[in-house]
Amino acid sequence: MLFGGKGSIGLDIGSSYIKTVKLKESKGGYELEQFDIFPLPPELIVDGSIIDSLRLVDAIKEMLKKAGITTKDAVIAISGHSSVIIKRIALPEMSEEELQESIKFEAEQYVPFDIEDVDLDFQIIGPKEEPGQMDVILVAVKKDIINEYISVVKEAGLNPIIVDVDAFALENMYGVNYQIEHDRNVALLNIGASTINMSILKGGISVFTRDSSLGSNLHTEAIQREFNLSYENAEKAKRGEPVENVNPDEVTSIIESASEEILGEIVRSLDYYRSTTMHEDIAEIILSGGCALIKNFVPMIAEKTGIETKVSEPFKNIRIPKKFDTAYLEEVAPIMGIAVGLALRKQGDR
Ligand SMILES: Nc1ncnc2c1ncn2[C@@H]1O[C@H](COP(=O)(O)OP(=O)(O)OP(=O)(O)O)[C@@H](O)[C@H]1O
Ligand SMILES: [Mg+2]
Repeated sequence: MLFGGKGSIGLDIGSSYIKTVKLKESKGGYELEQFDIFPLPPELIVDGSIIDSLRLVDAIKEMLKKAGITTKDAVIAISGHSSVIIKRIALPEMSEEELQESIKFEAEQYVPFDIEDVDLDFQIIGPKEEPGQMDVILVAVKKDIINEYISVVKEAGLNPIIVDVDAFALENMYGVNYQIEHDRNVALLNIGASTINMSILKGGISVFTRDSSLGSNLHTEAIQREFNLSYENAEKAKRGEPVENVNPDEVTSIIESASEEILGEIVRSLDYYRSTTMHEDIAEIILSGGCALIKNFVPMIAEKTGIETKVSEPFKNIRIPKKFDTAYLEEVAPIMGIAVGLALRKQGDR
């Protein structure tokens, strides 16, 4: 194979860490082939927009080299409330072809951006109770954001074959690793450095998604302010590593108070969901992203929301060959949720 290995990599370009996962199919399931995490300086991606594409390209190249990845095909994702709209809408029953023809017209009233500025996609979920109506998931992503990411990925020598959205990648990750129970609502939460993705699944199918622009940067910034630290040192202190003149107990209490804002946003989103669905119960929250690594964050969510909360296990049903450091993999697994979901996509998927 002259032009790189078979299959594709999942490439999750976060604002603070780039993550990549390569899986291969084995014995009717999946096996981990490669993975890596690469930290980014904080100023390259801001509010989901690429600010410094040259340095981002270099970072991606360096990560691929470090991980020994020669595969060229990559699946990436876009997120963020200012560039992605995902809505479940009701439309008159029609075929997929008919909807393809009329999607622009149908979508216009649901998309708060100029319809010419977005790429549209949809999935027909099925008939609704009201006769003649069907349930459709509508996705609109800003073209300029897609183009920014595609051009960076190409510059890094990769071939972007699919552009997904974070919420759907999480669903895919959930689909291979968890038992889907009919009529049970599960909230998938991914809280990174600057974004919260929330996706509520009912029987494994997304019924509600919401992105907000809050994340663990709030913790880093609070620690920076309190101890007058550089970004790098504040990140260290946040991870519980020793930093000169920093008292770990104080760090814990700063993190706890900075978490309030994030928790408030989660509670608001869940309340909004409940208010639009006549108070449907959510049985469980599954947490991915960097915030899952923060001490006490999981019990704090459980307490604030009153919902049982677990840290996601994106490799639960994926075979891990012996060459991997399983202790490390287990430690960072919650950060890899989206990358795993992206690695599960295949060319030709929608
Ligand atoms: N051990 C740890 N303890 C606490 N926080 C951690 C730890 N490891 C990483 N983090 C934090 O997790 C965040 C990175 O998580 P993640 O990779 O999910 O974010 P991201 O995808 O880069 O961000 P976003 O999607 O919001 O742009 C960083 O803020 C980092 O400081
Ligand atoms: Mg992320």
